[in-house]
Amino acid sequence: MHTESHNPMVIDTLPLPPGSTGWPLVGEALALTANPFKFMGDRATRHGVVTRSRLMNKDLAILAGPEAAAIFLDEANIRRAGGLPPHAADLFGAGVVNQIDGDEHRRRKRHLMHTVDAEALAHYLPVIRRHVRARVAQWSKAGEIKLQDACIVLTQELIFANFAGLEPDEATLLRYARGYADFGKALFGLPLALPGTPLARARAFSQEMRQTFSQVVEARRTAPTGDGVSRLVASEVDGEHLATQDIARELQHLMFAASGLSAWFCYGAQALAQDDTLADRLRAVVSQLGADPSGRELLESPELVAFVREVKRLALLIPITAIGVARQDFAVAGHRIPKGWLVLWSTYASHTSANVAPYASAERFDPSRYERGEGEAPHHFAPQGPGEALTSHRCAGVEYSTLVLLQFFVELLRAPRLTLPAQDLSIDMSQLPASWRSGLRVRFGTPTG
Ligand code: HEM
Repeated sequence: MHTESHNPMVIDTLPLPPGSTGWPLVGEALALTANPFKFMGDRATRHGVVTRSRLMNKDLAILAGPEAAAIFLDEANIRRAGGLPPHAADLFGAGVVNQIDGDEHRRRKRHLMHTVDAEALAHYLPVIRRHVRARVAQWSKAGEIKLQDACIVLTQELIFANFAGLEPDEATLLRYARGYADFGKALFGLPLALPGTPLARARAFSQEMRQTFSQVVEARRTAPTGDGVSRLVASEVDGEHLATQDIARELQHLMFAASGLSAWFCYGAQALAQDDTLADRLRAVVSQLGADPSGRELLESPELVAFVREVKRLALLIPITAIGVARQDFAVAGHRIPKGWLVLWSTYASHTSANVAPYASAERFDPSRYERGEGEAPHHFAPQGPGEALTSHRCAGVEYSTLVLLQFFVELLRAPRLTLPAQDLSIDMSQLPASWRSGLRVRFGTPTG
């Protein structure tokens, strides 16, 4: 397949992928925004590893599965610059890590990975533990809460503390949470910045956050701490240091990227509340850990790690990697992707679609699948993008999010038993991340009502 993907003689003769170009002018944009998860899943189920689509006036190839991941990762095939719609690129700030390629990307990524290397994670863990513990205690005391809102606030609290060294008050955390929610709506919504629209609000918020982060950078230049900003200020790659504006922009992107963690907290909490056997088994595992387990102890618990992997695989966060552009004609599974097409790899379809996902009963929540070796082969388990962090666009936050999730579930499993009061547990999949319509009400310490 790899050879075929590059041989121009062969590629010229190949048909375009199966699929639809949708309606004039809009293409399939309406179906995509109505439910991006279903959109990706349906296409993989119907057509397999490659589907043709069209968004507004742009042709799009949707890829799924491990073999397509290898082709997608090849920089001769795909560039990221120019892939995002202009309003989205502008919100992140031109030239941040998700929009650059080649050596420039490698250098930038090496800087960023200093915020999540082993030393950084060891420094963050006590801070994570302190916040998670306090929140879980607060929730259990309240008895019944809407977990979704609570986890959104907790996520903001963690990432601001770890990466920016800031501990905003509750009202400010809520405002930041709303700001990043607008950011998400604006990125995936219509590019109209009329007053009162999410895009107008997201632009104002983005500007405010960049100013806040710039001030933090300046403060850390004179008095460094162990937070992410201080690590970026100190970072030197091939003799290059980052300018204040670059750090502020990267931090803005990173904060938005990290804010989805809340959906993983919720998904895992629901899985525990719905499966007493699983929860009891994990509670027994947690009872064997010390009061304040180190990162290594957490990672050396196969049952907890398998649980976190399964949450990452199935929780509905974002259905795709970033969108790239075909640099040249190339082939995927006997079909030609012409130069200039938009191309994406669907994380959602790649992990859940029966047709392409390399998992037995892929839709089932089953952490024990990892004991049987599922997810081990290259690009089989890539919910945060395929490839290696330093040489591809794979998420910078893979290890950080694993650590945060492990610590979160440890504290949750140590709290009074979690149950779900009667409620509509359906999920609105037009939101990113997908959101529980009921807000996911949970009760600590009483049987299911
Ligand atoms: C909450 C769950 C998260 C999910 C589902 C997620 C998923 C992803 C995905 C799919 C990508 C694109 C990969 C690609 O284009 O190939 C990505 C990129 C990225 N993520 Fe995450 N991520 C999460 C959390 C985080 C966290 C906690 C951080 C903070 C360190 C982070 C930082 C980044 C960065 C900096 C990139 C851009 C990497 C690049 O372009 O080289 N993410 N993430």
